[in-house]
Amino acid sequence: MTVSVLMVCLGNICRSPMAEAAFRHHAGRLGLDVNVDSAGTGGWHAGDPPDHRAQEVARRLGGVEIGDLRARQVRTEDFVEFDYLLAMDSDNLRALYALRPSGATGRIAMLDSPALGADAVAVDDPYYGDSADFERCWRHVDRAAYAFAMRLLEGGI
Ligand code: 4NP
Repeated sequence: MTVSVLMVCLGNICRSPMAEAAFRHHAGRLGLDVNVDSAGTGGWHAGDPPDHRAQEVARRLGGVEIGDLRARQVRTEDFVEFDYLLAMDSDNLRALYALRPSGATGRIAMLDSPALGADAVAVDDPYYGDSADFERCWRHVDRAAYAFAMRLLEGGI
């Protein structure tokens, strides 16, 4: 069975494309059958590739190329097409709940939340930061994406 996961941040050019790539990488290595995408709750960057700093850190620390990804805004269909919609922070979590249509089937949670709800930790926005912030961000989404993939594998969620 394919599990569909949508990573969600504000602009879809920094955190969520990195989370998308990290999760695809770990799920593939673990042999999980997944469909992964990412989107922004805001639409200002729709059509843009990931921020060049995100591309650089994904390549350098993760060994993955994300330059072909293009930003898009969250759409109503996402709430039925994806099994999990994983927000990077609580603002985006709230935005997802606000956009959620009736009949939505996808589960909404923060990416870094061990019990999908409890003790959630925000992935800080690196957009106005420097390269060290992007490095921290990559390590954070990479670790959280791996943990989420492991929980899927173990059937814990
Ligand atoms: P992201 O970062 O949500 O991780 O993609 C941001 C990118 C762009 C903006 C804010 C956050 N912006 O205001 O344009």
